[in-house]
Amino acid sequence: MNNIILVGFMGTGKSVVGKLLAKKLNKDFVELDDMVEAKEKMSIKDIFEKKLEPYFRQVEKEAVKEAANRENVVISAGGGSVVDEENFNNLKNSGVIICLKASPDTILKRTKSLKIRPLLNVPDPKKQIEDLLKKRDPYYNKADFSIETDSLSVDDIVSKIISVLPKSALL
Ligand code: S3P
Repeated sequence: MNNIILVGFMGTGKSVVGKLLAKKLNKDFVELDDMVEAKEKMSIKDIFEKKLEPYFRQVEKEAVKEAANRENVVISAGGGSVVDEENFNNLKNSGVIICLKASPDTILKRTKSLKIRPLLNVPDPKKQIEDLLKKRDPYYNKADFSIETDSLSVDDIVSKIISVLPKSALL
């Protein structure tokens, strides 16, 4: 299948990059978090608070399956989704996986003003970012391509992605 899946930590630009990339390649854009919110009719923040993380992960898994069954889409996959092997394999079988990376400082800067990410709503978000990155890096590193985004604009990142994509993903 010719999907493009953006993975990576919160604040690495998956949504903003994914939307522009989809527009440029004439594909639909799919945000897994939006699918989860639509399914539950509740914000991610409320799902984490009222139904807790394991429940969120369950709904996220259903969303991954549905998104991975679509064709010709750019998927922005929530930062924790690819830690689950089944999710990773479903996404992998649907297209090319691109990981967007950023340093903890950049991530902190990009996520600070928004209080919508329950996992970073803790007394020491920088430490939380570092700890989670350490745990998640092995999973992010399974992507087909990785792009360091710290010093790149959204346009630069989109151009870089297009330059590494196999022809099959451009169809
Ligand atoms: C999460 C990332 C979020 C969202 C949820 C959990 C994570 O998505 O799915 O808050 O575990 O890293 P984004 O990466 O799109 O912010």
